[in-house]
Amino acid sequence: MDSILVTGNGPLNGQIPIAGAKNACLTLMPATLLSEEPLTLTNAPRLSDIKTMTALLRSLGAEVSSLQDGQVIAMSSHSLTSQTADYDIVRKMRASNLVLGPLLARFGQAVVSLPGGCAIGARPMDLHVEGLEALGAEIELKDGYLHAKAPGGLKGAVHEMRFASVGATENIVMAATLAKGTTVLKNAAREPEIVDLVECLRKMGAQISGEGSSTIEIQGVDRLHGATHQVVTDRIELGTYMLAPAICGGEVELLGGRMALVESFAAKLDAAGVSVTETQNGLKVARKNGRVQAVDVVTEPFPGFPTDLQAQMMALMCTAEGTSVLEERIFENRFMHAPELVRMGANIEVHGGTATVTGVETLKGAPVMATDLRASVSLILAGLAAEGETTVSRVYHLDRGYEHVVRKLEGVGAKIERIKGE
Ligand code: EPZ
Repeated sequence: MDSILVTGNGPLNGQIPIAGAKNACLTLMPATLLSEEPLTLTNAPRLSDIKTMTALLRSLGAEVSSLQDGQVIAMSSHSLTSQTADYDIVRKMRASNLVLGPLLARFGQAVVSLPGGCAIGARPMDLHVEGLEALGAEIELKDGYLHAKAPGGLKGAVHEMRFASVGATENIVMAATLAKGTTVLKNAAREPEIVDLVECLRKMGAQISGEGSSTIEIQGVDRLHGATHQVVTDRIELGTYMLAPAICGGEVELLGGRMALVESFAAKLDAAGVSVTETQNGLKVARKNGRVQAVDVVTEPFPGFPTDLQAQMMALMCTAEGTSVLEERIFENRFMHAPELVRMGANIEVHGGTATVTGVETLKGAPVMATDLRASVSLILAGLAAEGETTVSRVYHLDRGYEHVVRKLEGVGAKIERIKGE
């Protein structure tokens, strides 16, 4: 397994291009199942999760071509051969469950493996099931697979989700586009990736309104046609790299960044003493003066502070002046980066869903291990600011969500290299 060697090297300066959003692409790709006409995505990120979704769609019989070095994905599900998403693919990536709604809507049946737990939590699918059952689907759990059918097709309904689940919102909205009648989805998730999905579905002929608010209304149509859609900028990659000049000093411009994608995160950085300003090409980030100040963080559904930036923010707080309390309200086990940061000299106490971080002047480089996608990059950030060398192992986690991370950070002056493993 490869590892990444980072050596603290002072302030960072320059530009980092931000790619298309992994979590938008992973819901846009299954949308191809809703139509027999081609769907093409541009500005797609080059990530292993995208390769996994490609393999899944191909296993169903869809044609998926990766063009222009992976930045364009041309798909067609004109003649599918299966409606079963196998455990061996789904267990690798939970987002595989996003084929459930589209398969049900187009074919009236789907067999999708439960994803099983993952490092950050149990991650059940009860909210997906409840929403699809509200649309008339009959779903039973057998041998670890959800067996779903809607023999007479799905029917529009009014449904309120118990929690604003991103994936459940995406599955229900995609299914509702081909249901008979109107669906009103209440307490819907408001993430920009859902807005991006709806914009793509609308290009395919879907009739949807309210995306980005808590209530989304979908008028079912008989069929959807093909489209071409540009994947929205990745706000989590954006937020991650905004933290690089925050933790190291210097000034970095994030190309393609938009303030609307990271409003609450940018406000938190501002409170910590990090300026974020919009430029013609993106967002420019720099410390306002000297050491950053500790701030408290509570993770919430969008537009609140993103859970996917909690680990990275913790790395910054490890070097802040004062004490920061980070509360993780979305996932039950998302502090696995904490013990690794402690190995670097951080002062962190974790009690249940709360981590208390007392900043230290400097972190010390050390060998650390990535445990999940966002934890892996928080260790890279800490290594950028630490004295000496940090080796982050198991970087396959990183490859799931960050394209060309070494090249992007080298480009702003970081001392970082990938070490080929056996
Ligand atoms: C999406 O996961 C993202 N993944 C996650 O990003 C992100 O952390 C999460 O939304 C929250 O923003 C993709 O978009 C591919 P949820 P998802 O359904 O849809 C519980 C990353 O790092 N829940 O909003 O799975 C669940 O256990 C990944 O890029 C139920 O209880 O998130 C969790 O505690 C990690 N029942 C909470 O809700 C359900 O049926 C949020 O889950 C569904 C979810």
